[in-house]
Parts: sequence; C-alpha cells; structure tokens
Amino acid sequence: MNDKPILRYTSNQRTNHWLVAILFLMAALSGLALFHPALFWLSNLFGGGPWTRILHPFMGVVMFVLFLGLVIQFFRANFFITNDRLWLRRVGRVIKNEEEGVPPIGKYNPGQKLLFWTLLICMLVLLFSGLVIWRAYFSEYFGITSIRWAMLLHALAGFILVLSIIVHIYAGIWIKGSVSAMVHGGVSRAWAKKHHGLWYREVTRDEHPDRPISKKG
Ligand code: HEM
Repeated sequence: MNDKPILRYTSNQRTNHWLVAILFLMAALSGLALFHPALFWLSNLFGGGPWTRILHPFMGVVMFVLFLGLVIQFFRANFFITNDRLWLRRVGRVIKNEEEGVPPIGKYNPGQKLLFWTLLICMLVLLFSGLVIWRAYFSEYFGITSIRWAMLLHALAGFILVLSIIVHIYAGIWIKGSVSAMVHGGVSRAWAKKHHGLWYREVTRDEHPDRPISKKG
C-alpha cells in the first residue's frame, strides 16, 4: 500500500492560520486588559494603557482580514453533508473512540463545522460592534444607545470566541495528528481514513479510479 503522507494544508494555509492565531492571542489579551481593571496589568504587554487602547482595534481589524483568508479557503469544506447528522447523533461513540456505526465524514467533522460558523459569526459581530465603539474614528456617527449595545455585543462575541478557541485547541490536541497537520502540512493515510473517511476517498480518488465516492457512506 502507498504510505506517502496526504497533504491537508498547504504552506500558505498554515501561515495564514498561525498568523490568525497570533493576532487572536494579541487581540484577546489586549481586549481583556481593557475589559476589567483586575486584568489591566495585561496592558503592560502592549506598552501601557493608552497604547493598548490604540492598538487593540487595529489588531482586531488585521485579525479579521486574515481570518477572511481562512474563510475563503475553507468555507466550502464546512458545508454540512448528509452523513453529518448521523455522526452528530452518534457523537457519544466518537467520544468513546468507538468506530462501529459512526459514518465516514468529509474533511471536517460536524463539530469542527459548527465551530467554524460560530467563529465566523463572532468575528463579524466583533468587527461591526468594534467599529461602532472605535472612538477615534467612528463612534461620533452613532448615538449613545447604539454604542452601549455595541459594547455589550462586543464583549459577548469576544467571550464566545475565546471559549470557542479553547474548545478548538483542546480538540486539536485531543485528535492526535491534527496539530502536526497544521504545523507540517501532512497527515498519515491511517489518520485520514480513521477520522475523515470520505475526504480520504476523495483525495486518493486518482489512485483508485474505479472506487465510487458516496457522500451518503
Ligand atoms: C494556538 C491556537 C490554535 C491552535 C493550537 C489551533 C489548531 C488547529 C488545528 C490543529 C487545526 C487543524 C484541524 C484539522 O485539520 O482537522 C486547525 C484548523 C483551523 N483553525 Fe485553528 N488553532 C488555533 C487558533 C485558531 C484561531 C485563533 C482561529 C480563528 C479565529 C482558528 C481557526 C481555524 C480554522 C478556520 C481551521 C480550519 C478548520 C475548519 O475550517 O473547520 N484557529 N486549527
């Protein structure tokens, strides 16, 4: 059997992903510094309070633009397919690492897909609410009620995003081989077959031209 690794992420995709991760960390830490006095000490990381306040929105915008790069490349792979519903119903088995009765899935599992759309919604809410509360440039165009709502939404979306990323990191570490895919680009054939059976069939189609590809499993 061919044992060459399968490419899961190109170098551009990996660079894009890790830049988003770095920007997320910076935006989250500076955001937390501005969120509560107990966390204000974090502003030392960015050159003090005024600099944190100046830099945080720019970090957010750069993070959003880079994140769009990921969305453009991955949004198709995050559409739900027929097998996903059954996979979700059998998620208990997936957690127990049982394979029987769990349908093969595409490049991403339904949990990853739900997370992807959650990230996108949070990012959009953060961007638009962030513009409304960006005093230096945009706040003057909005009334105080809009600004108050935007502040609430901004904090809420930031909170959900941070929780989602904690889940994302945990899941990445839990499925051994995922982080390595995002670092080196490749996965083993056994990994692809076990975790993403339909994707494995799709990417190895040329090696087995007779094998049909069914999204229904
Ligand atoms: C230190 C932080 C992070 C780690 C360790 C991490 C880890 C990973 C890993 C291992 C994968 C590959 C999963 C797979 O191929 O099955 C992945 C994919 C991905 N990551 Fe991250 N990540 C981090 C931060 C972020 C951040 C901050 C974002 C965006 C806000 C993000 C968005 C994505 C997206 C969109 C994918 C593609 C999966 C999909 O489209 O569903 N990641 N990440």
